[in-house]
Amino acid sequence: MMSFIDNSILNLDRALRTLVPNSAKANRPSPANKAVETPMDEKDKRHSIGLMRINHTGEVCAQALYSGQALTAKLSSVREEMDEAAAEEIDHLVWCEQRLHELGSHTSVLNPLFFGASFAIGAGAGLISDRLSLGFVAATEEQVCLHIDQHLESLPLEDEKSKAILNQMRIDEAKHQIAALESGGVVFPEAVMKTMTLISKVMTKSTYRV
Ligand SMILES: [Fe+2]
Ligand SMILES: [Fe+2]
Repeated sequence: MMSFIDNSILNLDRALRTLVPNSAKANRPSPANKAVETPMDEKDKRHSIGLMRINHTGEVCAQALYSGQALTAKLSSVREEMDEAAAEEIDHLVWCEQRLHELGSHTSVLNPLFFGASFAIGAGAGLISDRLSLGFVAATEEQVCLHIDQHLESLPLEDEKSKAILNQMRIDEAKHQIAALESGGVVFPEAVMKTMTLISKVMTKSTYRV
């Protein structure tokens, strides 16, 4: 019982840190620090903002997924690995948020909604089994890698700072995917992956704008 209460407090703390602007702290400096800011025209800038807002919401979903998982999954043998991945996700969250502010914009107003939905999925999967829960992490990371690849192609040439962030995220997410699979995560069938792609389209279409 105590550990359930502990966990719930931890989760509330994580939810607040994820959703309240400027409240999370990164462990690693942003990769964007090493890139040079080149001025962009309004159209390019708006595009960068839209894409980085999608990436930020993706990280909000990652926090919620790991949070829901921590509440219900046992994961005794892989807890450390999952905690390490969750910590790296906080870096991503902070880097994307900082970049959005640099570009003169804000994170998505829809974030609480996506946090709630992802939390429910994470907790639900963890209730069923650790393998399903880890499978969800692996599948989510796969989707995130696909987005990042598309965004790296699509970002304005001048936006070296956003690209530097996405390049590091790409490395981390691929590592998280492998870790989740090696820890016993189930590989989702094609049909489930297609459904996840559809759901992620709803997220990307909406958060690009708001
Ligand atoms: Fe991430
Ligand atoms: Fe990740």
